[in-house]
Amino acid sequence: MSQTTRDHFLALDERDPLAPLRDQFTLPPGVIYLDGNSLGALPRATADRLGRAITDEWGTGLIRSWNDAGWVELPARVGAKIGRLLGAGPGEVVAADSTSINLFKVLAAALRLQEDRAPGRRVIVSQRGNFPTDLYIAQGLADLLGRGAAGGYTLRLVDGPDELPHAVDERTAVVLLTQVDYRTGALLAMAKTSALAHEKGALIIWDLAHSAGAIPLDLPGDGADFAIGCGYKYLNGGPGAPAFVWVASRHQEAFWQPLSGWFGHAAPFAFEPDYRPAPGIARYLCGTPAVLSMIALDSGLDTVLAAEARGGMPALRAKSIALTGAFIELVEARCQGHALSLVSPRDPALRGSQASFAAGPELARGYAVMQALIARGVIGDFRAPDVLRFGFTPLYTRFVDVWDAVEILSDILATRSWDAPRFHQRAAVT
Ligand SMILES: Cc1ncc(COP(=O)(O)O)c(C=O)c1O
Repeated sequence: MSQTTRDHFLALDERDPLAPLRDQFTLPPGVIYLDGNSLGALPRATADRLGRAITDEWGTGLIRSWNDAGWVELPARVGAKIGRLLGAGPGEVVAADSTSINLFKVLAAALRLQEDRAPGRRVIVSQRGNFPTDLYIAQGLADLLGRGAAGGYTLRLVDGPDELPHAVDERTAVVLLTQVDYRTGALLAMAKTSALAHEKGALIIWDLAHSAGAIPLDLPGDGADFAIGCGYKYLNGGPGAPAFVWVASRHQEAFWQPLSGWFGHAAPFAFEPDYRPAPGIARYLCGTPAVLSMIALDSGLDTVLAAEARGGMPALRAKSIALTGAFIELVEARCQGHALSLVSPRDPALRGSQASFAAGPELARGYAVMQALIARGVIGDFRAPDVLRFGFTPLYTRFVDVWDAVEILSDILATRSWDAPRFHQRAAVT
């Protein structure tokens, strides 16, 4: 079969209209980077842009740069760029803080909205396998609010989306879901799930950490109420990049979120003693933005928006499906008998931009296999208890990378080179 040659994969790269977008990045030689779903690669332009921001805007402009270099507008300007990837309307997104903090804001706002119109609703529904920070934030907020006179909130966790129709009921205030499961890559249907929440009178919050920049989105069209997501994954904003928050226009004026810092005030430089929320999405800001990180995120976003001239998100999604599909097929063909089993959905329509395999006990459940891969230049990551996770960023991942990564994986498995003691030593970040 012609697909089982490296030349076939090289030919796919030659025909790929998105291939030139890879030149926007500096990727180290000898590395096949399959972890852009955790930390996006460094855009070539970022070091220069940050350098200029540091020497010219900060060094020379000093405090004047808040106005002269437009620092004060960065959360809205960067937010508008992110909005283009979310299908958002104007003024629906700001870049700010972290995903965890933004979740605190929108969950508090959503609960407050429900308290006003349906006070009996005291349940937050989420998935047990949701990214832990989402569950922790929900637990923290439930604990905080539970100390008030009105009584507490309960977090109800389902094991899978098929349980949602039963779990979401007349007691549910908010449904909180991550669209693409960080471990398995399973992709939830946003329109259908949002409709399910609304039919039961609940509001829905989407965590788009693994969707933004990877999946074409239409938040207003798909009925979302609130959304949040990371800037450092597919948006290539750099380690710890600011996150984003999207609020449907219909909810923006209804309530001010509880982290009511001065950047979300209607007139921050009036220095009034009382909080007055800014109109619209700006009230979702809290304190002074991390300007340098915001500039790095702006640069990262430009690499994604550069795809607009080449088919945009639908073209990126089509390539992502082709990459993950080819990887799954090759791993299953070439690593057979090595205790790896696919945990990502086989149906591409149900899969995000990653392919995850569970490692059996024969592979000591996988951690050392990923370390051995990384030592050979194939960078993916490991998610406890047993998941080898490979992310595919169509902006810079080539088809030949898929071939080469699987060749190295099959060699590591066949020779059992992963079983060297050094690969079993656990680092703090996996
Ligand atoms: C689904 C999801 N939500 C949130 C986060 C992280 O949030 P924060 O940027 O606040 O650390 C991650 C990180 O990988 C994630 O996968």
